[in-house]
Parts: sequence; structure tokens; C-alpha cells
Amino acid sequence: MEAVVELKGLTKRYGELRAVDDVSLRIEPGEIFALLGPNGAGKTTMIGCITGLITGFEGQVKVAGLDVVDHYRVTRRMVGLVPQELNWDAFFSVRQVLEFQAGYFGVKPTRAEIDELLDQFSLLEKADANTRWLSGGMKRRLMICKALMHDPVVLFLDEPTAGVDVELRDELWGYVEALRARGTTIVLTTHYLEEAEKLADRVGIINRGRLLRVDDREALMEEFGRRHVEVKLREAPTAGVIEALGQHAVEVEGRTLRLNYTRNAGEEEGGEEVDYLLKTLVGAGATILSVEGGRSSLESIFREVLHEDADASSKGAS
Ligand SMILES: Nc1ncnc2c1ncn2[C@@H]1O[C@H](COP(=O)(O)OP(=O)(O)OP(=O)(O)O)[C@@H](O)[C@H]1O
Ligand SMILES: [Mg+2]
Repeated sequence: MEAVVELKGLTKRYGELRAVDDVSLRIEPGEIFALLGPNGAGKTTMIGCITGLITGFEGQVKVAGLDVVDHYRVTRRMVGLVPQELNWDAFFSVRQVLEFQAGYFGVKPTRAEIDELLDQFSLLEKADANTRWLSGGMKRRLMICKALMHDPVVLFLDEPTAGVDVELRDELWGYVEALRARGTTIVLTTHYLEEAEKLADRVGIINRGRLLRVDDREALMEEFGRRHVEVKLREAPTAGVIEALGQHAVEVEGRTLRLNYTRNAGEEEGGEEVDYLLKTLVGAGATILSVEGGRSSLESIFREVLHEDADASSKGAS
């Protein structure tokens, strides 16, 4: 199948700085792709090159198989962008903003179609309100409606939930899932690792313009398969219990014990180490109240990948 977005050796320089540095990537139809990286990593620049806001780059960018430089007008129409910085038109009503946006792309939605979109984003009752009087979260939702007016094939959300409260964040995540269910391909950038972990099918990790890794979320989780188990005891472990645990790398905090371990490929969830821990505790006379397991967060994976990259570049430099 043809990629929705294809980058080949994309480089964008600002003077000496390579804001995007030799990035190659395919984004497949219907997927949610998260671009994860720290401030200044090059996420917004990369999106700008694909959506036609940034020109003068090296390498090739294609949307639905068409080169974005040679076929600017067509490719621009296939993408929707919700920018990181909200730029709303302060003198118009919500409905007018959407009508103007549609006009810009030469589409003529009916009043009912606009109402339906507004309704999906819980903005219908604000349809005739001046955009100046919308709350921050409403403005962000309006920006998404705006980006959807011409029914793009691929929607770019640049930090969709920055500065958004938990409730609206969950709502936005719901919208993103619903859009994908409709067949829209979605590329989002985020600092919120939880967001990438929750929404994305694949995650790209970018730092200093370089795309360090691209992986299925699950594959990333497998590779960095750190697990932990937390055991709550009825009483703080006695010296006897601690002694019985011996060499095992168990962190003790009050009545809670935490064991970090690596799940080996093919091994059952839980693993021998956890069995051993529980048996040892019971054997030493401790009463176990609860056992809870978990896996490494994307956050710790991210730290590790950036760390590997720093190691690699310092080795390269020496
Ligand atoms: N127009 C410009 N002129 C010069 N440098 C720029 C320009 N735009 C971006 N940069 C630089 O390019 C690098 C990448 O910036 P970019 O905005 O793409 O990062 P980002 O990953 O989106 O960061 P954030 O998470 O903070 O939004 C930064 O060092 C930035 O200062
Ligand atoms: Mg940015």
C-alpha cells in the first residue's frame, strides 16, 4: 500500500543548525503515529515541511505519493494541521471561522454539516459566539474543527494537549480515536509520554533533528521489557524478612516492597523472580496484603533511548 506520508532524507537547516537531520519515514494509512521528543527536537519543523508551511529543505517529502514541492496545491489540500500555537480569528463567530476555512480550500459545507462537526466537538451551542469569548479548551477544539473542514487524509496535531486539563485531554483523546475509526491517518507530537503510549500505533523518537527510533508501541515495550512488582505487606518487613530476601534487588519503602526485573522473551508474565520473592516473603512470616505488577513507562524508555544516543555521539566524537 502507498504510504500516506513518505520522507526520504529530509533535512532542514537554519544556518548551521539542522533542525531536521536526514529523516526517512513512512506513515501508513489509518495509523496513529506519535512523534515524541524534547523541546527543540525538530517536531514542529518536520510537520511544517510536510504540511507546506516550511520550504527550502533537502530530501524528499511525499503525501499520498505526490511530491509536496511539485504538487504543492494538491498535497496541501490532503493535509490538516492543528498548530502548536493557537491562532484564532478574534473577530468572527465560530461558524464564520469554519466557513472561511472551507472557502479557503474551495469547499462549501452546508449549515447542517458544520453543525454536525461542531456537535461532535461539543461546540454547537457556541456556533454563533465570537471566538474571542471561547475558553482555551474550546479554542483548541475549534482549531481541530478548522483543520477538519476540508476532510484531510492525514491530520497533524502539534502538541494537542499542551496546557489542557485532564478532562479535556481525555475528550481530545476520544476525538482522535473517533477520527481514526473514520479512516483519518493521524500524526501527533507530544511531550506527554502517556499520550503516545495510550494513543499511538507507532512511536518515533526524535532528538536534535534525528529520528532515533521508530517502532510499534508494543515492540518498544517488549524490547525495553522492564517490569516491576509491588508487594504491600501488613507490617513493615522485619530484619528476618530483609535477610531472607538477601541479594535480591528489592527496594523497601515502609510496608511496600518493589522488585524490578526484566521479562525474558517467551517467559510467562510474572516470571520466576516474582514467584521467588513471594515464596521467600511468606516463608519468612510476612503477611502479603496485595501484589501489583506493571511495566516500564514510555518515559523510562525515552530516557534510555536518548541516553544511548548521547553515548553513541560521545563515542563518535572521541
Ligand atoms: N525559523 C527558524 N529559524 C531558526 N531556527 C529555528 C526556526 N524554527 C525552528 N528553529 C530551531 O529548530 C529547532 C527545532 O525546533 P522545533 O520547533 O521544530 O522543535 P520542536 O521539537 O517542535 O520543539 P517543542 O517541543 O518545543 O515544540 C530548534 O532549535 C529551533 O530553535
Ligand atoms: Mg513544536
